[in-house]
Amino acid sequence: MGTSNGQPQLRLHGGVDMPALGFGVYQTPPEQTADAVATAIADGYRLIDTAAAYMNEREVGEAIAASGVDRDDLFVTTKLWVSDYGYDTALAACEASLRKLGLDQIDLYLLHQPVPSDLDLHVATWRAAEQLLADGKVRAVGVSNHTPPQLRRLIERTEVVPAVNQVEVHPYFVQRQLREVHEELGVVTQAWSPLGGVKRYWGPDDPDETQDPLQHPTILGLADTYGKTPAQVMLRWHIDHGFCAIPKSTRPERIAENIDIFDFALNADEVAAIDALDTGERGGPDPEVDHPEWFDVKIPD
Ligand code: A2P
Repeated sequence: MGTSNGQPQLRLHGGVDMPALGFGVYQTPPEQTADAVATAIADGYRLIDTAAAYMNEREVGEAIAASGVDRDDLFVTTKLWVSDYGYDTALAACEASLRKLGLDQIDLYLLHQPVPSDLDLHVATWRAAEQLLADGKVRAVGVSNHTPPQLRRLIERTEVVPAVNQVEVHPYFVQRQLREVHEELGVVTQAWSPLGGVKRYWGPDDPDETQDPLQHPTILGLADTYGKTPAQVMLRWHIDHGFCAIPKSTRPERIAENIDIFDFALNADEVAAIDALDTGERGGPDPEVDHPEWFDVKIPD
């Protein structure tokens, strides 16, 4: 793990460096996205993670253009939505994302979802990702929400191994087995919902500690030990594991809080104590189940 700007960087295979902490904009409404991303960049975030399906790529691009930060110092991830899967459609969708983002090149381009029952479509789409990499439209290619069998099937049929698998990871869903497969294959683990937000998005308004790891006594105890907040302890757990984490917030004070994690570290016992909070239950959809309705979500130009 190297550092840049005092922040750890993860080396992707193929040689590209990716900041270990990024800023996510899933569920950030377009009208709040440019401000949130501008705040994040001003606070020192250098990785911005969006997706065609978040419908806010244009606003992410606006904030990047206005930031005054060199393009080379920013790392921009976006994702291909399933309704654009297929070789030609994927190439066209990447062009559309580049146009909306106002960029010549995407740093990391992810296949947003696996396609559980259509391996040919999955492979054809990955071939397009390989072409985009060869053409320099993207600097690295990866996937999201893939299980070990889905990763292995794709790798068996294609040339380029995904650099990243972006999946649900937080203290209540630690993905031990998937992470072992990532290590074996040289795939970087990128955590979406690193604060366990997904456990709360569709739950009660007033979640208790069973839905909210931010309230768990182990996390609260470590926050007390280090004089940090529960969110900072959880984000540090990701960094100390060697993951990339992309917390989302629209609130300036939390955006600042979530990057203020580079002045402390958890020891191995503390990391293990958080690992032990695993419930084995994901908050997001099961990646092995087909979601035909997702193909009805079309990405507007
Ligand atoms: P908000 O955008 O209102 O700040 P995750 O990235 O794990 O899905 O978590 C995102 C959720 O957690 C969002 O609901 C976000 O709400 C909230 N959140 C983000 N940062 C913090 C923080 N530092 N403390 C508490 N809640 C946070």
